[in-house]
Amino acid sequence: MRRQAQVKNRLTLYPLRLTGIAKMAIKGYATPEGTRKYRDRLVAARIAHADHFREGLEGLALSSIGLGTYLGGYDERTDALYLGAVKQAVAAGCNVFDGAINYRCQRSERVIGQALSQMIRERVCRRDEILIATKGGYIPYDGAPPRDNYAYILQTFVTPGIVSYQDVVGDCHCMTPAYLRHQVETSLTNLGLSCLDVYYLHNPEAQLDAVSRDEFIVRMRAAFETLEEAVAQGKLRLYGTATWNGYRTRPGSRGHLSLEMLVGLASEVGGKGHHFRVIQLPYNLGMLEALAEQTQSVNGKPISLLEAAKVLDVYVMSSASILQGQLSRGLPSHVREVLGEGSDAQRAIQFVRSTPGLGTALVGMKQADHVKDNLAVARHAPLDPGQFTKLFK
Ligand SMILES: NC(=O)c1ccc[n+]([C@@H]2O[C@H](COP(=O)([O-])OP(=O)(O)OC[C@H]3O[C@@H](n4cnc5c(N)ncnc54)[C@H](OP(=O)(O)O)[C@@H]3O)[C@@H](O)[C@H]2O)c1
Repeated sequence: MRRQAQVKNRLTLYPLRLTGIAKMAIKGYATPEGTRKYRDRLVAARIAHADHFREGLEGLALSSIGLGTYLGGYDERTDALYLGAVKQAVAAGCNVFDGAINYRCQRSERVIGQALSQMIRERVCRRDEILIATKGGYIPYDGAPPRDNYAYILQTFVTPGIVSYQDVVGDCHCMTPAYLRHQVETSLTNLGLSCLDVYYLHNPEAQLDAVSRDEFIVRMRAAFETLEEAVAQGKLRLYGTATWNGYRTRPGSRGHLSLEMLVGLASEVGGKGHHFRVIQLPYNLGMLEALAEQTQSVNGKPISLLEAAKVLDVYVMSSASILQGQLSRGLPSHVREVLGEGSDAQRAIQFVRSTPGLGTALVGMKQADHVKDNLAVARHAPLDPGQFTKLFK
């Protein structure tokens, strides 16, 4: 009991230490009205096609191309590139931004926050027009990798009572309630926000390497309870799972995630109006499982992940939409023909955003030329279903 009280005190004290920063936090969150205003402005200026935006997530008008911030060094040069890229993307029709607390040792979250605050100050956009998503699960470094990983985890997380060693899987992954509460607060501070639009559990399937499926379900339930509690406290709006293998692997395989099971768990925890509404998984011309493999089932019927997400009313964002840059060159000629004019990166993005059931294609981009190239696609409508199916003939 005494130990629990100590942990609780430390957790409640944590945000107080940050009050100077917390006072400056940007208030609000993405709303249907705000995001529609953004869409209408960009469409009126002929920067984006009306069908570039989707309203599948709580009525928010979200761009079909989002900017991801995973890749790149943990240095000031890369920070400056991402800062410019986020601003350039907002001007070019992108209102979905994706980070994770561990990306580039927290630097990606900090840069997204800086760019957003500058744009709001300069009246380029409003908070309610932009969706900011981030993730927690991997233990993040602070600015750069420490020299001694064990000493860092001990000093930053174990000694203050935020995690205990038995909570950590593979020396790097944790999703206990106390840890998630701490990480949500840290992400809010990094981003300079009072509320996160989407919070993902980051690769939760990593836990299945170390614990039984029954124990995994216990941990997911506790994590969902924590995230529902954070929604009730106004710290985030929606939550979900950002995965690598989980939804792409077959039932029975070790790291498999059943979307139906997770939505069921969220309903048990949060009732009918639960906030588990978004997922992320890799999908691109070279990784087609979300569309083509029956890795999921709903009511006993085997279906693909994209079909399951539609039935279960879950918005899907793709990660690695251009296979970490590899699809930006050398696409086969028949694929080029169907996907039309443009660069191979543009074609690969057009493929992902045209896939039935897919909401937003996340593309990692920090170089100005890449942002320009990729967001030029926003001026065009996605392929219609007839054209899309031609790819598979
Ligand atoms: N498990 C997960 O939760 C998970 C896993 C992976 C990714 N994600 C999310 O999904 C986002 C997208 O995935 P990703 O960044 O891994 O891979 P990606 O979007 O497939 O590719 C990003 C890479 O492609 C390069 N690129 C972008 N546009 C290009 C263009 N027009 N021509 C040539 N190269 C181009 C980028 O370079 P520059 O950056 O130098 O411009 C970067 O190196 C991530 O940033 C992250 O937010 C989530």
